[in-house]
Amino acid sequence: MPKKPQARTAVAAAAAPAAIVRKLTLEQKARLLSGASFWTTAEAPGVPSAFFADGPHGVRRLAPDVGDIEGAVPATCFPPAVALGSTFDVGLVRRVGEAVAAEAKERGIDVVLGPGINIKRSPLCGRNFEYVSEDPLLAGEIGAALVTGVQAGGVATSLKHFAANNQETERMRVSADMDERTLREIYLRGFQRVVTKARPATLMSSYNRINGTHTGEDRRITTDILRGEWGFEGLVMSDWGAVHDRVAGVRAGLDLEMPAAGEGRVKELVAAVRSGVLDLDDVDRSATRVVALALAAQAAREETADGGPSPLAERGHDPEAWHDAAHHALAREAASRAVVLLKNDGGLLPIAPQTRVAVIGELARTPRYQGSGSSQIVPTRLDDALTAIQDAAPEVVFAPGYGLGPAEGSAGSTSGATRRGAVGRLWRRSAAAADAAEALAADAVAVARDAGVVLFFAGLPQSAEAEGRDRLDIELPAAQLELLDRVLEVNPRVVVVLSNGSVVRLSGFADRVPALVEGWLLGQAGGGALADVLYGRVNPSGRLAETVPLRIEDTPAWTSFPGTGLRVTYGEGIYVGYRWYDARDLDVQFPFGHGLSYTTFGYSGPGVSTDDAGLTVRVTVTNTGGVAGREVVQCYVSLPGSPVPRAPRSLAAFAVVDLAPGESREVELSVARDDLAYWDVQADRWRVEGGTYRVEVGASSRDLRATADVEVPSDGVVPSLTAASSLGEAMAHPVIGPTVTGMLQGAGLSDDVMIMTSAMPLDRLPYQPGSGVTHKQVRQLLDVANGTGGVVTRATGRLLTLVGRFRRHR
Ligand code: BGC
Repeated sequence: MPKKPQARTAVAAAAAPAAIVRKLTLEQKARLLSGASFWTTAEAPGVPSAFFADGPHGVRRLAPDVGDIEGAVPATCFPPAVALGSTFDVGLVRRVGEAVAAEAKERGIDVVLGPGINIKRSPLCGRNFEYVSEDPLLAGEIGAALVTGVQAGGVATSLKHFAANNQETERMRVSADMDERTLREIYLRGFQRVVTKARPATLMSSYNRINGTHTGEDRRITTDILRGEWGFEGLVMSDWGAVHDRVAGVRAGLDLEMPAAGEGRVKELVAAVRSGVLDLDDVDRSATRVVALALAAQAAREETADGGPSPLAERGHDPEAWHDAAHHALAREAASRAVVLLKNDGGLLPIAPQTRVAVIGELARTPRYQGSGSSQIVPTRLDDALTAIQDAAPEVVFAPGYGLGPAEGSAGSTSGATRRGAVGRLWRRSAAAADAAEALAADAVAVARDAGVVLFFAGLPQSAEAEGRDRLDIELPAAQLELLDRVLEVNPRVVVVLSNGSVVRLSGFADRVPALVEGWLLGQAGGGALADVLYGRVNPSGRLAETVPLRIEDTPAWTSFPGTGLRVTYGEGIYVGYRWYDARDLDVQFPFGHGLSYTTFGYSGPGVSTDDAGLTVRVTVTNTGGVAGREVVQCYVSLPGSPVPRAPRSLAAFAVVDLAPGESREVELSVARDDLAYWDVQADRWRVEGGTYRVEVGASSRDLRATADVEVPSDGVVPSLTAASSLGEAMAHPVIGPTVTGMLQGAGLSDDVMIMTSAMPLDRLPYQPGSGVTHKQVRQLLDVANGTGGVVTRATGRLLTLVGRFRRHR
């Protein structure tokens, strides 16, 4: 993928960092390799400090030595990654990035620590709300858009958590064990996309290990692949407190340890260099990257400084002082685009303003709008859905129905869904608390009875999902489910509106409610955005970036998550998310990419053309309904009949298109040739197979409206054969294959013998009784195959003899 020019962020340093580093003492260089505080890098002569802040759905500006949310400077809380992923809208996400950059600058922040684009391997991962998708292409595209937006605003980003940080259980020690193909195609591919497309200034290595090695100590991951293969030129920092062996880390290419690790670390590094354990060049290289980041940050700060007093000092911590109406409006727009209309039987939505509406559920009044942990932001203001609905309609009644405390937040129905170790989630309610809960519920049922429409807000309380721990199940709280049942008994016209950072099980009630809205965690303006969608001011266009399964037991990682003995085996391989459900032909509640609209769309085409760059897919989409709407056109690609195990389909491109009623537009989707490649483990490289590819275009991974087949030439890479290659591989080889196959076929072998013979490694041939094949002949065969000399007929002359003998011995 081509490199793009970059704004003045932390990779575009003004002075020559290497020259500065040359003048520093070893101690000074070593000191640069860890933070000076919780959020800042160390200073040295000629080297300023850079200031980091979490996010990335806003700016979490804390004082240098404070690690806690208390005292954070308010900032616009945009929708977190779970919601941005559902927009499928890279232009919108880029605008969010630009707004985040503007706020970071105002708050004196040089590097925003994000985005996080780890794959949602299991819905149980406690941090899924901070991640984009189960699909690497979508995660990479949304991640790249955010990085591009933030860095266009002159602020650096830190793509995280590199890599395979897919669970919170034992996150600092667990080893994510997987084969190379899975690592490349699923867990690194999104990172590769962001690095090559958007060039983030920094990367944050993850806490976990991969195949036994801490990622920050893994030279192959941190340097060979990241820099050597992808061309990354920025700085790699550790996750906070992730460093396990600092000397090994510096050697591997982990430039900066965060946060401040103290003087002990400086001494350790100095001693390692002096004793010859650590190469001074490695220290110089990492110190140079820290200096480059700090100088570029300083240059970017100077470019925007107006010379006036710091806005931070002027405004303090008053949320209103930081409120930015334009950014709040953008947060609302992004949130409304993230809402996914899952079901809308009988066109219950949108609600007409004059309808008598009952709003049920504490979550309507007390919104859940972001997840817990290091990404939490102090918002500049907070919209709740109840107020926004009351503003939209004259006749609204409300009942909280349930509370959001730990007792009310405990998991619901346990029908096969309570996970091992779930003990401790059971709470014994006191009689008084039970009475209070019953009063709340009874009031809600009474309020719901006479309403034209019931808006039932359900979701997970804050305590249910957070950084640092995984979920035990995907259940909604029992109190909410029980109340929903009672409400449905008195009024079937129920719209369930969900607030959750990762999928919840809907199979207990989805077929009993006419309408379902997935509201994720929508940021500070989410309440207004929900009202916009419910009342039709915004025609919903959000799509599921993760499959909603019928039950947790169906999910790809169910049998291995979160591992034992500090190891977790990614046994499902590349079959993550919809790749798994499709390969196993499993029913799901709602498939990846699903999301309805208040209008309908027709598809015609696709026309597909190919060139060296890849595929160009053209499809005409028509708004066949009565209102303007936005379709998210999705393009999936597969190679039926490939000898390589492949997912039945993989997302290869997507685009949003806005259409007036009756309007048609041709949508062009580009599928890069690189995105057709699989990781060939034997050749240890990406490989595009030649063949007839199937291109499917539609509104979700299971609502495919148009299909076309297209011939794609192979990348012409001739696989090299070794002495350990099999006779079968020699038969399939483009250079020697036809001759070898012809000779073997000419020997008149039965199919059974042919199959057995083809499995034999070439270097075993000389040892077969009476084969007469020599080592020299095998070498000659390999020379021909690999283009290093010889001719095929001489080299294979004896194979016929071998096969004849082999047949007799059977
Ligand atoms: C998190 C990172 C975060 C860092 C700094 C870590 O615990 O994993 O995502 O950026 O803390 O707060």
